Amino acid sequence: MGIDKILRAFQSEVDAALEDSLPPADREPTRLHEAMRYAALGPGKRIRPVLVYATGEAFNTPIARLHASAVAVELIHAYSLIHDDLPAMDDDDLRRGRPTCHKQFDEAIAILAGDALQALAFSVIAHDTRSQITPARQVEMLRALADASGSAGMAGGQAIDLASVGSQLTIGELEKMHLYKTGALIRVSVKLACLASGIDDLDVVTRLDRYAQCIGLAFQVHDDILDVEGETAIIGKPQGSDSEQNKPTYPQILGMQEAKDTAQRLCEEARECLVPLGPAADTLRKIASYIVSRDR
Ligand code: IPE
Ligand code: IPE
Ligand code: MG
Ligand code: MG
Ligand code: MG
Repeated sequence: MGIDKILRAFQSEVDAALEDSLPPADREPTRLHEAMRYAALGPGKRIRPVLVYATGEAFNTPIARLHASAVAVELIHAYSLIHDDLPAMDDDDLRRGRPTCHKQFDEAIAILAGDALQALAFSVIAHDTRSQITPARQVEMLRALADASGSAGMAGGQAIDLASVGSQLTIGELEKMHLYKTGALIRVSVKLACLASGIDDLDVVTRLDRYAQCIGLAFQVHDDILDVEGETAIIGKPQGSDSEQNKPTYPQILGMQEAKDTAQRLCEEARECLVPLGPAADTLRKIASYIVSRDR
């Protein structure tokens, strides 16, 4: 099956699960709930949930066991995007081809919608009693998601990003920032699927973790490339935002060709990690290639 079809199938799975998890728009406080739904249900790629489902697929895990993890990572991601776009952070007006949350609503509601989406992510895993994941596993999942979201993960990476504006980072420092701000959530998407699938084989878990680290870094390298070479109408966010704000990026530090070569090398390394998993990991292979070739 082609990657487009795979993405569409998993995107509709997670969209239905998100719809089930989000508060209805007509429930009080309605403006907060409208903003949460606006940010979480907007037309994004859903790549983190897709990774959850594709990792589960490699182990034949029933999809019902994966929905909570898929929803939770997307909720954290949606929250991170709302806050990333705020005037105090990247100050962007366009997200997923539409006004950013603080433009559509207002800054205070956008901040609160981010807060509430973050809390909801943990709630969804904690309340998932239908999938028969053991309580001990659920605690492990909550811990993994908390670590990936907090100051040793996404939020920490965002802090490094803001502190780095206008400064010249070494490639090692830039890699660390990308692994934190973007890599951590991508990595935990694969980890949650392993936990939900009950995979105990350390070699397999370690290989998948390495795969996830490689594609997590590659994802942000390619995002940096799209900021230069993408078109606003296709990427759905303002092209050139990084350079306008003097953000250190891979193309800025390495040059465009070396940035592209780095993304390609990471994709190849990711795919090598999957060799022992055989055809069961075909979708994960296609996702690695998609991440460094997508146009949005
Ligand atoms: C954008 O993420 C922010 C980064 C971490 C680079 P995505 O490119 O996954 O955004 P959506 O969800 O598809 O809009
Ligand atoms: C964002 O990185 C990473 C997040 C944790 C949201 P960017 O600031 O490059 O993401 P975009 O380009 O605005 O989507
Ligand atoms: Mg940013
Ligand atoms: Mg941004
Ligand atoms: Mg970007």
